Amino acid sequence: MARNICEVELPLVFPPTFLWGAATAAHQVQGSPESNWGQWERSPERKKELQDAGKDPNDYISGNACEFEQRFSKDFALARSLGHSANRFSINWATVEPHPGEFDRAILARYRRLVRSARRHGLTPIVTLYHWTHPAWFEAMGSWKCDGAPLLFARFVEEALKYIGDMVHYYTVLNEPTVYGPLSFLIGCWPPKEKNSQEVFLKVMDNLAEAHRRAYALIKQCNPHAEVGIAHAVAWEESSDPNIKAEKLRNNLSWTDTIIAQLDFIGLNVYFHEVHEPEGSAYTRLSWTDPCSADAVVSDFGWGMCPRSLAEVLKEFWHAYKKPLMVTEHGHAVAEMDDRRRCWFLWESLKWVHQAMQEGIDLRGYLHWSLLDNFEWAEGFTKKFGLIHVDRATQKRTPRTSAYLLRDIIKAGGLTQEIAEKYRTAIRHPNEL
Ligand code: BGC
Repeated sequence: MARNICEVELPLVFPPTFLWGAATAAHQVQGSPESNWGQWERSPERKKELQDAGKDPNDYISGNACEFEQRFSKDFALARSLGHSANRFSINWATVEPHPGEFDRAILARYRRLVRSARRHGLTPIVTLYHWTHPAWFEAMGSWKCDGAPLLFARFVEEALKYIGDMVHYYTVLNEPTVYGPLSFLIGCWPPKEKNSQEVFLKVMDNLAEAHRRAYALIKQCNPHAEVGIAHAVAWEESSDPNIKAEKLRNNLSWTDTIIAQLDFIGLNVYFHEVHEPEGSAYTRLSWTDPCSADAVVSDFGWGMCPRSLAEVLKEFWHAYKKPLMVTEHGHAVAEMDDRRRCWFLWESLKWVHQAMQEGIDLRGYLHWSLLDNFEWAEGFTKKFGLIHVDRATQKRTPRTSAYLLRDIIKAGGLTQEIAEKYRTAIRHPNEL
């Protein structure tokens, strides 16, 4: 397994029904000053924190981000021209329900147009109903810690479904609850920045699970044929100690177990490869880089780019649940236009994924994170995850090399020798260049 390369012969053919595309999230491509995140970005505490760290606060305020709500039709047309057949995006609860129980009909109508536009451009919409932003009033009342939180979320979902429910087949109700929950309510680095007790934290996680279950029931009422999933963040966890590996895997699966009856498919967001070894009684994250290889490739975020991780996570989830899977996010921050690290990572990852599919996993689609350079949460605009570069001053969209590589893969229905030759330099191991 030299350099973590998957040694397989081309061509690698993907099923004709496979969904190909990219993902975004409402706050990241549009901003929302009225949301929990929007308020936190503008707070004096946040400003001070950034200034103390020598950073420019303006790089960390989402503003209108990529102006997606004004530009979605053109963005979908561009995605289609890049071969995409699906697009994952989210509905922002914060803008839909600015005051408790009062819904903004104009915003809901715009979401209806957005979904219709995706479909008209030949993109299967995959809709996320909660990608970490909610109304400021919900934040003020304690958000996911409160007893009534799942019901309040369900009220928003019920309203949103009136506008989009007849046009959407795939839903990923919650985005990464097992990331958002701990970072916001236990470790306290994201808003509301709370370091709660385990008991409170578990209540948050239970409420998120209940929110999913309620949304599932509402979606099925609206359209019994809709397929409901989650976008679940999972790392490929490894250890030389099989007990640790088993424990990490159990941790990964345990929250999923609580909603498994309400999952028609499991969406996976995969970024990390983590190696855990015993150190005293604690487990420690030894490395963020790629331990498969001596010459690790690292993203602009400092995250190890390990192409094999995705396939390993898919296999673990397939063996655990035997439910259809979808890659709902996968990517890395790489700013260059000629983004060789991203090209190499994409190419090699798809090889491993194809191999996993040969072993029988039922994978329905691959959605890259992200379609556009966007607002990367606490990192602001400093990290570029897009297949498409966005000029912050002019909003001009320019596809990176990886966008064309993915386009050619989609158009060919898989990885071919011709594509390998055309992108010879781009897909070579970055450390060999
Ligand atoms: C989130 C995205 C985020 C990406 C890169 C995922 O955890 O769902 O919103 O931009 O990771 O950090």
